[in-house]
Amino acid sequence: MTTTVLVTGGTGTLGRHVVPLLQEKGCTVRVLSRHDRPSADGVRYVTGDLLKDEGIEPALAGAETVLHLAGGPKGDDVATRHLVRAASRAGIRHLVYISVIAADRVPLGYFRAKLGAERAVAESGLPWTTLRAAQFHDLVLGVARTMARMPVIPVPGGVRLQPVDASEVAARLVDLTLDAPAGAVPDLAGPQVLGMGELLRGYLAVRGTRRPMLPVRVPGGAGRVYRAGENLSPDGAATTGGRTWESFLAERVAGGAR
Ligand SMILES: NC(=O)c1ccc[n+]([C@@H]2O[C@H](COP(=O)([O-])OP(=O)(O)OC[C@H]3O[C@@H](n4cnc5c(N)ncnc54)[C@H](OP(=O)(O)O)[C@@H]3O)[C@@H](O)[C@H]2O)c1
Repeated sequence: MTTTVLVTGGTGTLGRHVVPLLQEKGCTVRVLSRHDRPSADGVRYVTGDLLKDEGIEPALAGAETVLHLAGGPKGDDVATRHLVRAASRAGIRHLVYISVIAADRVPLGYFRAKLGAERAVAESGLPWTTLRAAQFHDLVLGVARTMARMPVIPVPGGVRLQPVDASEVAARLVDLTLDAPAGAVPDLAGPQVLGMGELLRGYLAVRGTRRPMLPVRVPGGAGRVYRAGENLSPDGAATTGGRTWESFLAERVAGGAR
């Protein structure tokens, strides 16, 4: 009998990499989405909303494992508590969660919610695994595209990221999902630590354009954390992916999608 895995967020940037990898490993994959979708490519879509606590029980029926990727700018703690409660009732054997590096250090709402979600998973009483990942290349590309529309680009001074490829995060998550529950596992970050200016210049160079850049200071506690590099995984604590920002840009931007 194959393992049935419910993937929340299976329609998102990360989820779109994860779903076919799970299928390649022989899993039956079910995806929870807020939008009605017909079954396709061997995947059954179940309609539900984690934040509204709707449709979760039917989505879990008959699943052994949950890979929880659904997320948004707000409310991941609340959504995860709803999922965890239903997963406990359903007797789920392994709950796998994707969080973000420095969830416990960056004083911004998104990070606080991810930390709340991590705690809900760890305190669920279910066997669990949580992976914290760095920002995905796709996210940084979205930021770069938005900023590049400005005639002068404000660059947050001292902010560095270690972006990672979503495909590498997906591959790691699939391995973790099929392994025994492992609790909090080492972070996954990309191979380079790059300042915002370097990331933006890389993007502009591939587009063959230039923009003047103006350093700006990020205020408050978040600014202090970023300038101290506390948003990055501590030295040596992270596993690193292989794909660089330049390689990602070469495919995604130079390849036509500007
Ligand atoms: N992006 C990054 O740089 C990054 C870094 C570290 C960790 N993460 C984490 O990785 C996960 C995936 O990120 P992503 O970039 O792939 O996200 P994304 O592309 O924005 O996709 C979000 C996914 O969550 C689902 N979703 C959102 N709200 C939902 C709700 N209330 N109920 C059910 N499903 C809901 C969406 O499904 P429908 O629209 O089909 O309903 C969609 O599949 C998130 O938990 C995020 O916090 C992201």
